Amino acid sequence: MSNRGSFSSRVGFILAAAGSAVGLGNIWRFPYLAGQNGGAAFLLIYLLFIFLLCFPVMVGEIAIGRSARRDAYGSYSALGGKRWGYLGLFGIIAGIFILSFYNVVAGWAFGYFLEISFGSLLNEGDFGNFFGNYVNDISDNLWFSLGFMVITAFVVSQGIQKGVERANKIMMPALYTILILLIIYSLTLDNAWAGVQFYLVPELDEISSQTIFDGLKQAFFSLSLGMGALITYGSYVGKNQNIVSSAAIISFADAMVAFLSGFMIFPMVFSQNISPTEGPALVFIVLPEVFHDMGPLLGRIIGGSFFLLLCFAALTSTISLLEVPTTYFVDQMKMRRSRIVWVLAIVIFILGLPTMMSQGMVPALNELPFYLNRDFLTFISDMCDISLTIGGCLMCLFIVTKWKITNMDNELAEGNPIYMRTFLRNYLHIMIGYVCPILLGGLSILIIDKYFGLGLFF
Ligand code: TRP
Repeated sequence: MSNRGSFSSRVGFILAAAGSAVGLGNIWRFPYLAGQNGGAAFLLIYLLFIFLLCFPVMVGEIAIGRSARRDAYGSYSALGGKRWGYLGLFGIIAGIFILSFYNVVAGWAFGYFLEISFGSLLNEGDFGNFFGNYVNDISDNLWFSLGFMVITAFVVSQGIQKGVERANKIMMPALYTILILLIIYSLTLDNAWAGVQFYLVPELDEISSQTIFDGLKQAFFSLSLGMGALITYGSYVGKNQNIVSSAAIISFADAMVAFLSGFMIFPMVFSQNISPTEGPALVFIVLPEVFHDMGPLLGRIIGGSFFLLLCFAALTSTISLLEVPTTYFVDQMKMRRSRIVWVLAIVIFILGLPTMMSQGMVPALNELPFYLNRDFLTFISDMCDISLTIGGCLMCLFIVTKWKITNMDNELAEGNPIYMRTFLRNYLHIMIGYVCPILLGGLSILIIDKYFGLGLFF
């Protein structure tokens, strides 16, 4: 398998994995979930989950991938036999579904970028109305999301070093730069301080079971855990690299972008006296309002930059999502990367059509029947969230019962000679051996109960 490629350097891998992690999840979903869940209280829970629970899962995933040097399915079956291979396959399928709806939302962002920078979107009077019509009418969206998929497929078709790594090396620094500039601007707005306070001063009685569930699913989604994305990226990492410290940097970089996004968005929201509980529309309705008030030229520049930032973040993530099934077909079926990428892109784009039509265009998709009782986009994203936490739980069980934790230790010690003597090793044993599988399994069941209103526990 020597010709499957690899990252050229540690920085290349870290940027690519951080690029996978940083996405719509950080800039679009994190702020609206935080807005709905009491601001600072949510931030606190989210950060706790990232560093205590998700970091060990990330280390485990990368170790599995680097040890087996294969796609998600191949890695599980090489280390644990065919039956465990299904866990990898389950992850690959989950990733395909995530990409199918993720690409639709990325298409909205792409459309907003183009129509704010070069069109007349900011002249609209009522942005709520505009957004409703915009996502309802798929004639434009179809092209934007197709365009986004084509760009993604093009990057992935170029391979790990020339495609994935290079794209991330350009976009990640750009993303941080735009973000910092926007924060500085946002802090100068009237009433910005109220936003900062909402975001940073936790009111602990705001923490409910909903906060905890949302915090967990967000942490998992945000770090791209639970479906083999990091097994796949890990399989392209050199043996001389330190997995534990890389994972720490990746988690930190991801949490930082979520944190900073809130810092950018809440002052803007409060400066407009808008409620932060808007939900998924927050970024698409509230922010254009802000950009509109800046006047035609500044609005175009700052608004355009914001949606460009969102597109960059989304693209580095769609790349990683497409890389997972691509690596599978290249490794398992010996297909040519440059060909299978395009087949996958078309299939996944088509899978995204029901999502695209679920925002008003087709009533049956807007209001699914029975227990499902939500629109198709929310439904599929809920299902994917659940499969991520379940996937994470099963990955821990795989390490402990099948692969064995000593094998993980040996893998982690490569590129990190002092690992065996560090406290971190004990910590990882406790977390992966007990805490993560129990908490992830238990919370997954509670989340399923709540999503489907089964009433077993609530
Ligand atoms: N983490 C990305 C975000 O926050 C989304 C993402 C990319 C993802 N790859 C993934 C989520 C793999 C789950 C699994 O937007």
